[in-house]
Amino acid sequence: MTQRSFLLLLSTAAILFFTSCGQRGPFVPDTSGLPNPWDSLTFASGIQSILTPNCGGCHSGFGPDPTSYSAVSNYVIVGNSATSPLVVKASGGNSHGGGVVLTGEPLDKIKYWIDHNNAAP
Ligand code: HEC
Repeated sequence: MTQRSFLLLLSTAAILFFTSCGQRGPFVPDTSGLPNPWDSLTFASGIQSILTPNCGGCHSGFGPDPTSYSAVSNYVIVGNSATSPLVVKASGGNSHGGGVVLTGEPLDKIKYWIDHNNAAP
């Protein structure tokens, strides 16, 4: 075997070795091409049901009253959940008379609805 073909063999083995290592670990399916079920979130189909039990007790006819889409949307800056008063108040980012703090999926849904779904009714 010439030195040249030995080096070729060695580098092929190295490539196989290093690329095969990347395949270890749990199988994670690629879902990037699939529709996100949250893309169909609307006020009526998923947001109102979060706000009613958490906020409705106090916000009845005042502030973001969950029975009224237009009342709630007064506190939404479409496309910008980070500065929307609805999210800022609900996530404890600003002192809130209600003291209620949403976290996890309910908060993420509200943010998604504002940022990706134009806060659809
Ligand atoms: C225990 C009663 C109570 C609950 C429950 C409550 N709030 Fe409030 N909220 C208040 C009070 C009192 C104020 C007025 C003082 C202030 O701005 O913090 C207020 C003010 C707000 C404001 C500003 C209103 C304005 O016109 O400036 C927003 C937005 C708001 N709350 C969102 C929410 C959201 C979202 C929820 C549910 C996750 C919620 N609140 C739950 C009592 C409550």
